[in-house]
Amino acid sequence: MHTTRTRSTASLRKLGRTLLYVGSCLLAGWTCAAGDAPRSDARVHTAANPDPWWKHAVIYEIYPRSFQDSNGDGIGDLNGITQRLDYLQALGVDAIWIAPMYPSPQVDFGYDISDYQNVDPQYGSLADFDHLVAQAGKRHIRVLLDMVLNHTSDQHPWFLEAARSRDSARHDFYCWNDGKPGPAGQRLPPNNWVSLFGGSAWQYLPAVGQFYYHMFYRQQPDLNWRNPQVERAMFAAMRFWLDRGVAGFRLDAITTLFEDAKLRDEPALGGRNAQGDPILSDLYTNNLPEVHGVIRRMRAMIDEYPGERVLIGETYVPKTADLDPWYGGALHNELQLPMDTLVGLGSKLDASSFRQHLIEAATQLHDSRPLLVFDNHDNIRSWDRFGDGVHNDAIARIVAALLLTSRATALLYQGEEIGQRTATPTRVEDVRDPIGITGWPKEKGRDGERTPMQWDTSNAQAGFSTNPKTWLPVPPDYRTVNVQTESADPQSLLNWHRRLIALRRSNSALHSGRTVMLDQTNARVLTYARVDAHGGTIIVSLNMSPRPQTITLDAPAAGLSGTHYRTLLSSPEAIIAAAVSQPIALPAFGAWVAALDSRQ
Ligand code: NOJ
Repeated sequence: MHTTRTRSTASLRKLGRTLLYVGSCLLAGWTCAAGDAPRSDARVHTAANPDPWWKHAVIYEIYPRSFQDSNGDGIGDLNGITQRLDYLQALGVDAIWIAPMYPSPQVDFGYDISDYQNVDPQYGSLADFDHLVAQAGKRHIRVLLDMVLNHTSDQHPWFLEAARSRDSARHDFYCWNDGKPGPAGQRLPPNNWVSLFGGSAWQYLPAVGQFYYHMFYRQQPDLNWRNPQVERAMFAAMRFWLDRGVAGFRLDAITTLFEDAKLRDEPALGGRNAQGDPILSDLYTNNLPEVHGVIRRMRAMIDEYPGERVLIGETYVPKTADLDPWYGGALHNELQLPMDTLVGLGSKLDASSFRQHLIEAATQLHDSRPLLVFDNHDNIRSWDRFGDGVHNDAIARIVAALLLTSRATALLYQGEEIGQRTATPTRVEDVRDPIGITGWPKEKGRDGERTPMQWDTSNAQAGFSTNPKTWLPVPPDYRTVNVQTESADPQSLLNWHRRLIALRRSNSALHSGRTVMLDQTNARVLTYARVDAHGGTIIVSLNMSPRPQTITLDAPAAGLSGTHYRTLLSSPEAIIAAAVSQPIALPAFGAWVAALDSRQ
């Protein structure tokens, strides 16, 4: 997990990346499968398009508590998701990733699982889940689940048993240590490790006279992945869902499965985080090499299943090349889609940085497919991170165009498509996310990005629920920012997303073409072409500056054939295109998507 606010979890990501401008020329390596054809259903393979579905997919993250409440308890649920499948189909998504909906005490709103093979009653039942998968399938939407392998809830039967005695069969499922003696004879934690959610990462349990390790809340004890029984048990849980037809998993906190066997102190980096803890390196608690063996075995397991099941990783890494091992490098035998959050979760709308990142993702990952991410349930929404307070709507369109026209799998988070804002609580007594309570006021928690989906103006709950008391309040801007209102407005951000997704599906260059960077020294405007196997070309130009810009693209010099640009999509106003030799005027924060045509 990562945040751009000063959040304790920021240490998961070492911001060591260098955003050097590389004036490289054509990226010849950005090729597409020969003869890719347009198609309307990303799951259909054709002889002409042999790529697996996930390479071109738009994946939509659903935070189930906040998507749609079907039974009036103020909390979203699985039947609510089923009710909204038609909306998702019309938007054009290929798969949904549902954040944890398993039985859970909900300390971390589902990321503390007490039963890996069931549905929390507040979200529905296994029958509701099966119904959801079947109904989604009818609409060509695959269902991905969140799998939390790093830790369980402290209420999971394994932990309850493990915590009873050192001799219990499950004791070694978790990470225990006797600690060290303190000056007054008390027991002290074995080392300086701190929880990402605040305080020591070690919790003493008098019943066994030991500490257990927890990277997140103390109610989320870390599993001991050095015990082979843990792997067997967790793989069995994954098979349970694979057998029910899920298309794969988003693997929570996957980089932190292992900790240093010697429990060495983390080096201190200086300063304190929002929770008041010393800022430490994550050398001994994150990214340990042992995790790759687990992932390779997991990949082999999911590959046994038909239908191209997929593993997506929650991978916050310092620089692009660090994503490569998570794919399995040249062997491509680990995760298909480790999340590429590197620039998407930043807050700098900067053409050079995005260009450089796209180039790196295309050249440093052994031709693996990047999974671009701008929003999720842990981070301030991109509307607020990239927005300048004046042009937020135009900027949101730039973000969407970048996400949906790059040669990458795209991950959208619910509400991103309508421009939902981050609605952070203003009073500590309203905060639900525990880190926002312990960290207040420096750390206000993640409630702001988890408020209910804003569907319509039918009631004060924006159509999310019939219950006036929703688990998090519905922000008052639902009156204008909602699906119903934006559906009716052809110029809305929602319809911008719909058109981009439709174009990405139907146009072979955008769907699977190679990328050619253009106008590479331009620090304000990011421009690239997507080119299909037959030379069909789409130009994408994004003015990331608050001033109008004029660009002249030397398409022939870049090897692109065509004589005229034909505007397909433009924002915030119509962009007039002409012959390739003519300059193009882009308005402030203008986004332009055009076909390159040949005319006599
Ligand atoms: C990452 C999840 O996205 C976040 O919401 C959760 O709190 C932590 N992992 C712990 O599971």
